[in-house]
Amino acid sequence: MNTVPDRNIAMELVRVTEAAALASARWMGRGNKEASDQAAVDAMRLVLNTIQMDGVIVIGEGEKDEAPMLYNGERLGTGEPPLVDIAVDPIDGTRLLSLGRPGSLSVVALSERGTMYAPGKIVYMDKIAVGPDAKGAIDINAPVADNLRAIARAKGKDMDDLTVVVLDRPRHEKLIADIRACGARIKLITDGDISGGLMAAIEDTGLDVLMGVGGSPEAVITACALKCIGGDMQCKLWPRNDEERRWALENGRELDKVLTIDDLVAGNNIFFAATGITDGELLKGVRYFGNGAKTYSLSMRSKSGTIRYIEATHRWDKLMQISQIRFD
Ligand code: FBP
Repeated sequence: MNTVPDRNIAMELVRVTEAAALASARWMGRGNKEASDQAAVDAMRLVLNTIQMDGVIVIGEGEKDEAPMLYNGERLGTGEPPLVDIAVDPIDGTRLLSLGRPGSLSVVALSERGTMYAPGKIVYMDKIAVGPDAKGAIDINAPVADNLRAIARAKGKDMDDLTVVVLDRPRHEKLIADIRACGARIKLITDGDISGGLMAAIEDTGLDVLMGVGGSPEAVITACALKCIGGDMQCKLWPRNDEERRWALENGRELDKVLTIDDLVAGNNIFFAATGITDGELLKGVRYFGNGAKTYSLSMRSKSGTIRYIEATHRWDKLMQISQIRFD
């Protein structure tokens, strides 16, 4: 069925992540995570509120950081339809930004109301994520070797051609040993597994799969992005302690359940945007010059499958006449 092109909210979301990146990148290397987060949150909230939508935050950044947050349940937008769920990570990689290291991003995703999985108090999920060419080849319950063999087969590669992205954490000691035993290569990242998941799913990054335990909010946001790209993802809740285990049982979160990409975000009208804050392999970071700055963003929509890379030049002399945020 042919339809007239309809609104692509991802185009508007780019302005949200651009604003958060422009505001927070000023804090690069200044060792102040709270201030950078506050700057990103304030900018993100302001621009999200200008978008014509009735949005509710399902994935906020409150549960883990308790920093200045866009909190779960917060209503954003003009209040008119469409009714949407919102997932935000104003800065994925606050530590990277505060130390001036590569790879921090500002990220936002939208989907139809009631379609995003709410992990509640469970801070971490175990994850496996791949691109379109390995869709259907993953099984989070299967041994690492089985997954890598299936992914390699799907991609027409040998196992030792694969590169696996893993967060560099002590909890991944066994995972890393298992991957090495298969002969696959590993890219250990210090932070930022949204970017890691995205790069594993995007062609020509040299990365094939993201594996391991990372933030639950980041898992849902990665699922939104991967639905736009046509990739695949499975997760399982990974409680840290008895308190989280109890919370899960009392609140209907099944610990054994495999959360498929459709469980993480249902439906097929998902919008995603990201802007680089510090330089990264996926996106360049913010570049300031005397009278403005440049930003590098990604905008995607699952319904159309269009992926846009957007390079924007911002001019303070113009922008500061209309903006409520001081970027200059
Ligand atoms: P924030 O910068 O948003 O706090 O997250 C950074 C991050 O590396 C995520 O990308 C990842 O999912 C999570 O932290 C991992 O958590 P931890 O550092 O506790 O292992």
